[in-house]
Amino acid sequence: MNDLFSVAGKVVHVSGGSRGIGRAIAEAFAAAGARVVVSSRDEATLKATGLPYVVCDVTGVTQVEQCVSTIVERFGTLDVLFNVAGINFRHAAETFPADKLEDILNVNVKGNYLMARTCGRVMVEEKRGKVINIASLHTLQSLAGVSAYGMSKGAIGSMTRALAVEWAAHNIQVNAIAPGFIVTDLNRKLWEDPTMRNWVEARTPAHRLGEPSDLIGIAIFLASAASDFITGQVIAADGGLTAGSTWPLTVPR
Ligand code: NAI
Repeated sequence: MNDLFSVAGKVVHVSGGSRGIGRAIAEAFAAAGARVVVSSRDEATLKATGLPYVVCDVTGVTQVEQCVSTIVERFGTLDVLFNVAGINFRHAAETFPADKLEDILNVNVKGNYLMARTCGRVMVEEKRGKVINIASLHTLQSLAGVSAYGMSKGAIGSMTRALAVEWAAHNIQVNAIAPGFIVTDLNRKLWEDPTMRNWVEARTPAHRLGEPSDLIGIAIFLASAASDFITGQVIAADGGLTAGSTWPLTVPR
């Protein structure tokens, strides 16, 4: 039973692991005895994690292939990929800047796919593995002003199911975590605005914003043997946000 949720000794690659959600996952896995390696574009923030790292921009085929080869050379194998790298830009759809659209699709869709399929090559050889993508509440529903990001996170849902179906026979499970509103550098400023904060606290059944640490339990579960018969799923960790809302109706208790 104790081993069911164990990630000790597993080689875990967190792409986009230099800060925010990725860094929190990387630190939690290191604390749980996993052999963790983080990657992202930015060497300074990678170094600051104090974990083994590889500099890698997910949008480049060669960089991604070199990153995965370096990890396998250094650690001998690859058990788990967390595909966390992601960017966002908010703008009205009718005038959404074309260059920003390209950036978002390049990182969030193409980049995550390149990283998944390259790590998948190693896992297919090894006949085991776990790929955990980071989707979003936008995978399940939409918010105004976030159309490009929303599309990209919809694609993460499709990618999760497509790879799960393709690799299930190789004993590889592919799932996604759909975080709700989690305070990180990506959005800290937004949540400092009292109007925004009141809106999210009223709308989330748990009545609070999430922290990166709120995602650790589901991350451990999806990386461990406990989830070996679960694949192709997008699992929300959002304080009930996508389940529904509370409302001002008063009912007898
Ligand atoms: P963050 O901005 O703090 O971290 C993003 C990470 O991705 C950083 O490590 C960054 O270096 C890396 N990255 C960006 N572009 C890259 C590229 N081209 N190549 C390699 N690495 C790259 O953001 P946060 O909030 O930690 O988000 C992490 C993931 O979680 C993203 O995919 C985001 O879309 C997703 N997410 C975040 C939510 C939130 O409320 N913070 C909610 C739902 C999903």
